[in-house]
Amino acid sequence: AKSPFIYRFEPGSTANAPPLLLLHGTGGDENDLLQLGAMISPGSPLLSPRGRVLENGMPRFFRRLAEGVFDEEDVRHRALELGDFVQDARERYGIGSPLAVGYSNGANIAAALLLMRPRVLSGAILLRAMVPLTDPPEADLAGKPVLMLSGRHDPIVPDDNAAALAAMLSAAGAKVDHRVLPAGHQLSQADIALARTWVAETK
Ligand code: MLT
Repeated sequence: AKSPFIYRFEPGSTANAPPLLLLHGTGGDENDLLQLGAMISPGSPLLSPRGRVLENGMPRFFRRLAEGVFDEEDVRHRALELGDFVQDARERYGIGSPLAVGYSNGANIAAALLLMRPRVLSGAILLRAMVPLTDPPEADLAGKPVLMLSGRHDPIVPDDNAAALAAMLSAAGAKVDHRVLPAGHQLSQADIALARTWVAETK
């Protein structure tokens, strides 16, 4: 079957570098995070889909009713659709289950994918993520490594919302490392450095 996603795939160049699933923020596309992915995990295969929902022409991974208010039925549907895409791509390219690296809306769909289809991802780096589903299914994330990097001055993600997501993933068994950086919603050099170190220590 042909994939409904527009995407890019960059083969890996290092034997045991973990495959990455790159998930961009609102208004981004499949090219956005290729450089970031190569920086935080040199030599990794990179699988980078473009979100299929358009909001005023801006690609996203699921619909929202307002900023921070999600269409949760769409979140569920899109997470499953993304899970199918990952499974198809794994077969096509012969890669293992990827580590998601998501920013903003991409981090939120990565969190939803973890909760909806826990076996699809080996773990996740969630950059400026928030709770994607208020009442997620019971997931078994036993031992899955998750790095969450939040911004203390993020105007989109309240501190307690990021903390609630960390707690939700921990309760499902994930090994969550949640750091709150002196940053806003934008990524900083510290995000890249921390993610890179975490990948090197986790793989
Ligand atoms: C979302 O809609 O997923 C969050 O508000 C993050 C964003 O894309 O701005």
